[in-house]
Amino acid sequence: MSAVFNFTFVPWFRSVAPYIHTHRGKTFVVGIAGEAIAAGKLQSIAQDLALIQAMGVRIVLVHGFRPQVNEQLRAKGHEARYSHGIRITDEVALDCAQEAAGQLRYEIEAAFSQGLPNTPMAGATVRVISGNFITARPVGIVDGVDFQHSGSIRKVDVAGLLRTLDMGALVLLSPFGFSPTGEAFNLTMEEVATSVATALQADKLIFLTEVPGIRMQPGEPASDDNPIDTELPLAVAEQLLAQLPTPQQPTDTGFYLQHCVKACKAGVERSHILPFALDGALLLEIYVHDGIGTMVIDEKLESVREASSDDVGGILQLIEPFEKDGTLVKRSRTEIERDAHLYTVIEHDGVIFACAALYPYPEAKTAEMAALTVSPQSQGQGDGEKVLKRIEHRARQAGLTSIFVLTTRTMHWFIKRGFQPVDPDWLPEARKRKYNWDRRSQVLVKKLG
Ligand SMILES: CC(C)(COP(=O)(O)OP(=O)(O)OC[C@H]1O[C@@H](n2cnc3c(N)ncnc32)[C@H](O)[C@@H]1OP(=O)(O)O)[C@@H](O)C(=O)NCCC(=O)NCCS
Repeated sequence: MSAVFNFTFVPWFRSVAPYIHTHRGKTFVVGIAGEAIAAGKLQSIAQDLALIQAMGVRIVLVHGFRPQVNEQLRAKGHEARYSHGIRITDEVALDCAQEAAGQLRYEIEAAFSQGLPNTPMAGATVRVISGNFITARPVGIVDGVDFQHSGSIRKVDVAGLLRTLDMGALVLLSPFGFSPTGEAFNLTMEEVATSVATALQADKLIFLTEVPGIRMQPGEPASDDNPIDTELPLAVAEQLLAQLPTPQQPTDTGFYLQHCVKACKAGVERSHILPFALDGALLLEIYVHDGIGTMVIDEKLESVREASSDDVGGILQLIEPFEKDGTLVKRSRTEIERDAHLYTVIEHDGVIFACAALYPYPEAKTAEMAALTVSPQSQGQGDGEKVLKRIEHRARQAGLTSIFVLTTRTMHWFIKRGFQPVDPDWLPEARKRKYNWDRRSQVLVKKLG
């Protein structure tokens, strides 16, 4: 073992601990696109899911099978037919879908049964259980198009799913549902995952897809200046969806987003779009602070919001004790009144519990986050983090590439959240002139990737 190993492994492992604690006992519904399996990613995804399950997460896995069904259709000399973005499932397509689902189920069960020594699956005992948990009805005839055996979901057997999860099993669902007359209907993976997540009121809905997430400027090509937006508040995601054309293909920006928004509106607090192409995408999204895909989040606290001049009294009351003990620099009422629009606050029942301001330096493509405060009675419940996330979002929206803070006592809180110490010389000129060399605040910068 190399001498540096202890110094990298131990802090790294400890940094993951809060996420392990947070997610233990939670329910995640994971939808994996058929393309991921076609691309040979099943083994590594199964290994990651087994690890996540071992850390106490209850998992429902829904697989897609679009490319597999199309391949079977091609082999039979038939063409895949779609309308309104939904497959038209005739007799042949139904046959192909059943064959593809059967094959994929075996492959997935096999992947979870590995356990060779010295592999990530050694010692893993994942019990995979599938079943008739979904009742479906036909899509029927829409605008004159008969969808035949394509269905949509009528009911999810929540009690059955919960009992299976309580047994410690991983639930595996294929995109099929059955009618009370015993007919099988072809569903979409996305609809099954969304409906199951909603019915279970799951803690997360995660799509592992062929797209990397939603970019800051959605219709523009990928570039360093157009990275993935790691966090979309539900309201912003809804606005974006309303502006996008109706998605038809899984690679259309709105395709997975529409399901994330639907789930979030129906009570699933967090929905994620992740690229299966990136090895370990699930682990990076779930156990690392910033994640790598896009998370649509319903801040139940609609209370996280931008401040207005009505909040000045509440902000003053909140920050005053920290100005008195020297944690924060003193700000006058006039200053806060002038800058109220730069503040983000968390409010519960008319009381301001947390705040921070964002002072932009557009010439340097950065901004200072100042006066981050959480009221002493609600510290330690993640409010500081929520404000930070919103501030980061505001900064990204403004086209900035970093944010910085000046702190004398809270360095570690920021470092844990991706900030890095820099020399005060790093500061934009206009801010450097105001830097108080007596206070000797530490400057910390976070790049907005
Ligand atoms: C720093 C602050 C904003 C964090 O808010 P919060 O809502 O408590 O933060 P979160 O719930 O997201 O995170 C809590 C974690 O941060 C840690 N933490 C709190 N204050 C810290 C500090 N000064 N230094 C390092 N870690 C700190 C807590 O111990 C807790 O750790 P844990 O998750 O391992 O238990 C809040 O403590 C505060 O208002 N402090 C006084 C004002 C201040 O220092 N502002 C920063 C000015 S630059």
